Amino acid sequence: MKVSIIMGSKSDWDVMSAACETLESFGVDYEKKVISAHRTPQFFMDYMAGARDRGVGIVIAGAGGAAHLPGMAAALTTLPVIGIPIRSKALNGMDSLLSIVQMPSGIPVATMAIDGAKNAALYAVAILALHDEALAAKLEAFRLTQAEKVLNTEL
Ligand code: RP5
Repeated sequence: MKVSIIMGSKSDWDVMSAACETLESFGVDYEKKVISAHRTPQFFMDYMAGARDRGVGIVIAGAGGAAHLPGMAAALTTLPVIGIPIRSKALNGMDSLLSIVQMPSGIPVATMAIDGAKNAALYAVAILALHDEALAAKLEAFRLTQAEKVLNTEL
């Protein structure tokens, strides 16, 4: 099972690349694509319609501004969708955050923090680890390493 990482523009890549790097560090397979809900609507619908058949299990979607990509992705599939609000120039990402987190009842998007691409990948790993003991062990090891770094911090 792989993760689909989509983003509304190449300008999101600086943030979204952290999701790819994190999945790679766990050995999780993924596909990545720039897709725009408003600039490429028909391609977007076809892409989402074929996601499950391509072996996608989770979708990570990042978008900024009037960020409807994650919500529309969730509307177009029953796969779990994790949304990343990208920091925008005009409103510093508050527009992106509210557009993604305030989904109306019935179509959920698990919304991360603004620019929270790493956490999106970690959340995807946690979901995949439900049915993958080796991956669960890697996630446990990651947490231990992270905790050790904090405890070994010298001031
Ligand atoms: C959204 O509009 C993208 O997700 C991006 O965050 C924002 C700006 O896109 P560009 O104008 O940089 O292509 O669709």
